[in-house]
Amino acid sequence: MNRLLGKTALITGASSGIGRATAKALAGMGVNLTLLARRVELLEQLKNELITTYSDIVVEIIVADVRDKKRIFSVLDGKNFDILINNAGLASGLDKIQSGDVDDWEKMIDTNIKGLLYVTKAVINSMIDKNYGHIINIGSIAGHQVYPLGNVYNASKYGVRALSEAMNIDLVGTNIKVCSIDPGSVETEFSFVRFHGDSQRASNVYQGFTPLKPEDIADIITFVLNSPPHVNIQNLLVTPTAQRNVYVIYKD
Ligand SMILES: NC(=O)c1ccc[n+]([C@@H]2O[C@H](COP(=O)([O-])OP(=O)(O)OC[C@H]3O[C@@H](n4cnc5c(N)ncnc54)[C@H](OP(=O)(O)O)[C@@H]3O)[C@@H](O)[C@H]2O)c1
Repeated sequence: MNRLLGKTALITGASSGIGRATAKALAGMGVNLTLLARRVELLEQLKNELITTYSDIVVEIIVADVRDKKRIFSVLDGKNFDILINNAGLASGLDKIQSGDVDDWEKMIDTNIKGLLYVTKAVINSMIDKNYGHIINIGSIAGHQVYPLGNVYNASKYGVRALSEAMNIDLVGTNIKVCSIDPGSVETEFSFVRFHGDSQRASNVYQGFTPLKPEDIADIITFVLNSPPHVNIQNLLVTPTAQRNVYVIYKD
């Protein structure tokens, strides 16, 4: 049963990886999409691909940085969504706390936590007004277990998990559902961004095992969104079969 046909969704970080795959999956379910990210060419490319393949949906793009509080509140003012996918996020650097770069820390905290909060605040009241909505926050296995050199990224994703729990509590008595989907290793631009554009170092992360594909997470997001109104899936930890926690990955 498709419960998503004709719904409206805002996806942050839709230009790449999990966000892009989710846009395609939801378009296939007949969801009207608003795609938000900073890279305009990638958003336009995706929009063209989606409207060519699915003539029955509306696709809008918003070029914005989720860290830009003023712009986020202005571009989302008056907009009304049934679904919010808070996916925009990144790891920047992999260092001990004593050698970490403060700019990297600010990027992660400002994007993964503050950006998620700005976008949520900008759209949540219209969900409350109509007493309907579904918010998916993309957390991480890094929000369940700290790993060496992960420090600030771990803290940001522990924060996302705490916020998802808090949102669920705050929204009790409404029909708005909140789920934190927390992936292990997914092959996207994530490691390329973490290692500041070092593609060799990034591709080494995924050697010797089969990582998740962004489409795997998109399928799970679609399943969660399509659950019946009385079912609220609050948290899912999803790893490749070769990975059982942040430390334990079987590589051959
Ligand atoms: N890949 C993994 O192994 C993994 C594991 C666990 C959790 N995650 C989480 O999954 C989410 C998606 O990451 P991904 O793996 O799909 O990586 P990705 O391919 O690098 O995609 C990240 C997306 O976020 C957007 N983004 C980053 N900073 C932004 C900002 N300031 N404003 C607006 N958009 C921004 C990027 O778009 P622009 O650059 O165009 O703005 C891009 O579309 C992140 O929250 C990440 O932490 C990933």
